[in-house]
Amino acid sequence: MKKLKVALVEGDGAAPEMMKVACDIMAEAAKLDDIKVIFEETPMGWCALEEFGDTLPQSSFKRAIEIDTIFFGGVGDPKFDDTIGIERPDMRPEAHCLLPIRKEMGLLLNFRPMFFFKELDFLANVKPETIPEQGVEQHWIRFLLEDSYFGNEDFINIIPEELRKTLGVKLKADVTGDEEQVMDLAYYRAATIKKYLRAAFTYARELNLPVISMDKANVMARYLFWRKITTRIGEEEFPDVPLVHQLIDSGNTMIFKPARLRGVIIGGNEHLDILSDGAAEALGSMGLMCSSAINPITGASMFESGAGTAPTLAGQDKANPIGRTLTGAMLLRHRRAVRGAKAIEFAVRLTLKDGYRTGDLFSAERDDPAKLVGTIGMGEKILKRLK
Ligand code: IPM
Ligand code: MN
Repeated sequence: MKKLKVALVEGDGAAPEMMKVACDIMAEAAKLDDIKVIFEETPMGWCALEEFGDTLPQSSFKRAIEIDTIFFGGVGDPKFDDTIGIERPDMRPEAHCLLPIRKEMGLLLNFRPMFFFKELDFLANVKPETIPEQGVEQHWIRFLLEDSYFGNEDFINIIPEELRKTLGVKLKADVTGDEEQVMDLAYYRAATIKKYLRAAFTYARELNLPVISMDKANVMARYLFWRKITTRIGEEEFPDVPLVHQLIDSGNTMIFKPARLRGVIIGGNEHLDILSDGAAEALGSMGLMCSSAINPITGASMFESGAGTAPTLAGQDKANPIGRTLTGAMLLRHRRAVRGAKAIEFAVRLTLKDGYRTGDLFSAERDDPAKLVGTIGMGEKILKRLK
């Protein structure tokens, strides 16, 4: 049996409960590919602060990067934000943990595939008649570096002190609220965009789908730059892949008419962060969303469900583990355990089709109360259908 080492971040809130389910299912599914998954805990988040003095302990950070495949449960909890977080805003784990990992590992592509099957259209928050017969296929690929997320940190040291003050370029930890002006530097580098685009176009070519590029080229310089480079790469290197430019504001409205949004959807870090959450909710629940962040050159990867940590459900066996479970399937596929990945996806679909629901998916008018299950129960139903 081959071994697959995975750095496991159980995380905060209800994330550890969901991760336990997802890891058990993953380990079982990987056996279909003759692979033994070995999880090594690399604690991060509020849960790590007491023991390690940091929500991103250096030991965890280094080890996770070394292992180079991270299964990330999710960090953050308002309970801590409103207490320790006030004294130590620098320790708020969402940005403090995720951004350094993304940067250090060069995780340039954030895959958020959203599939939707006609037979499950009652789970969607859009009208069922907007879901086409062949189902929905939206492969969101968010550009995960640079932009407004990294600008200030990347450039602050080369901006002279005086200019920094005039512009209001600051790190988040230094913002007091008394400034005259505060600025986020948002930037794209041609070399980085090209690397990203080549990976995204290749993916679209393999799937035989068009690329839908979301931008705001009518207003912003960096998006005009984006559009010009995208057009050029498309024409010169991928003439066989259809390319559609879509302004992001009208693109946003297409989320509610999913039949119009079929393809590989690309766009900048900040904007696609927002839009892809909306798309996930339109198609059902954030609890179903899965996500991975990949370095297309080295293969380094982090798998992180977009579903949040559900802190209000912590300890109650209520949170929906499906997003994490499907994210586990993405990890397996990335590491060539394709049979296991497919088995998980099939089992999840079947479990939902058979009527099992966690609270976030449950509707009293539609669903059988006997099939309302908790985190562990949902895991058991999925495991039973794994083959
Ligand atoms: C996400 C999250 C993160 C982001 C936050 C927590 C830093 O919203 O992964 O989508 O904005 O990228
Ligand atoms: Mn987000």
